[in-house]
Amino acid sequence: MNVACIGAGYVGSVTAAALAVLGHAVTIIDIDEMKLDNIRNGKSPIYEPGLEELIRKTAGQTLSVDTQYESVGGADVVFICVGTPSKADMSADLTFVKAAAARIGKHLNPERYTLIVMKSTVPVGTTDMVTSILEEVSGLQAGLQFETVSNPEFLREGYAVEDVFYPDRIVVGSESVKAEAVMKALYLSMLTRDVYESLRELLPPVPEGRPEPVWLRTTPTSAELIKYASNAFLAVKISYINEMARLCDRLGSDITEVAAGMGLDSRIGNKFLQVSSGWSGSCFPKDTAELLATARKYDCDLQIVTAAVRANHEMHIYCVKKVQSKLKSLQGKRIGVLGLTFKPNTDDARKSQAEVIIRELCELGSHVKAHDPHGAAMFRSLNPDLPVEYCDEPERLADKADALILLTHWDCYLTLDWANLIRKMRTPYVLDTRNALHRDEMLSFGYDYEGLGI
Ligand code: UDX
Repeated sequence: MNVACIGAGYVGSVTAAALAVLGHAVTIIDIDEMKLDNIRNGKSPIYEPGLEELIRKTAGQTLSVDTQYESVGGADVVFICVGTPSKADMSADLTFVKAAAARIGKHLNPERYTLIVMKSTVPVGTTDMVTSILEEVSGLQAGLQFETVSNPEFLREGYAVEDVFYPDRIVVGSESVKAEAVMKALYLSMLTRDVYESLRELLPPVPEGRPEPVWLRTTPTSAELIKYASNAFLAVKISYINEMARLCDRLGSDITEVAAGMGLDSRIGNKFLQVSSGWSGSCFPKDTAELLATARKYDCDLQIVTAAVRANHEMHIYCVKKVQSKLKSLQGKRIGVLGLTFKPNTDDARKSQAEVIIRELCELGSHVKAHDPHGAAMFRSLNPDLPVEYCDEPERLADKADALILLTHWDCYLTLDWANLIRKMRTPYVLDTRNALHRDEMLSFGYDYEGLGI
């Protein structure tokens, strides 16, 4: 099929590269020449494990790039994958979605059927709004020459390549049988593992235990809400386990065992019960905020989601308080922060917990040094006002430090020479907010080691 993909961000570049590997002719359209140049040269515009390999295999062959929308005229399917940042009132800003829809509308070909797929995470009702814009700009009628469908993405950053090829579910929000048939044809190879046999060499290995994907057709508004409701539910689950970790700190129980015991109940499941300094990143904060904004608009009080958001912020602050109570005062203390991205295996430092935690540490008078193997540049550009000393080597954070805080459990931190690092520190306190280091080993090296809820 001929596919146009508007937006070369985290979602667009992964979706486009995956479809190109599966043999579709894909054009990525974006205004950012630098991103497009990278793709043209077989490079990934973002740090996402496995993505560069896919782009290298397809660039100049089944994958091309453009700043213009001409290819929309020859496309069977057009994906909208543009950004939807939060506005000041925390609702989603649809400027880019509307602009993309208007430009697509100008290039729709009345001689053929084109399916427009809403992939970006958008407030409930947006797919219908896009239909209206397309009708208005093109003068065509939805249902004849074009149709729209909501097809939310569920890609985890850091595992996006695995998730795009081996999804748990493909949600298609459309009333139209024809639109569903086009989506099925497009996603055919993602629907059954057998088809992968012929492509085995091009694809990442099938993850162990991952079930066959489920195809779900529903209405556009339900599809849109499935995305928000899923992310908010996961956020609630993490806020819940983090709350239990705080209780464990008081009771002297071990959250690792509590979470493992809870996870054995198949109704609860063992995923998303990993303690942290709070969930963050470009999805959960934005999606919970938008869900609450939508609910407010419809005069509906979402108490559980509201509480999860509040508890999450308190979890960030709880980590600072732990360090503060250990060091008595943070005034003039030298703190090293390991990890600036919201989780490992991504360079994405948007809305990372590090921002809130470092800001609080600085306000309380600490001198903060920080390191991240891939996200320092983005973090720095997003937080130019933060008086942080960025280091290229994580070991430098230990120099005369009063505390090291492990925020993101990158592998490179787990394999640090902890046995020797302690000698550089002024006070050998380590707060491990992911419970990722070995407590007994850290204690045996002489650290004053604390995790969360252990
Ligand atoms: C999420 C959804 O998982 C994905 O389906 C959706 O499409 C996009 O949003 P992502 O934001 O990439 O993906 O990260 P995810 O792995 O879900 O983690 C979100 C946050 O929760 C991170 O800060 C992570 O560190 C934290 N987390 C996750 C925990 O604190 N504990 C856990 O057990 C799992």
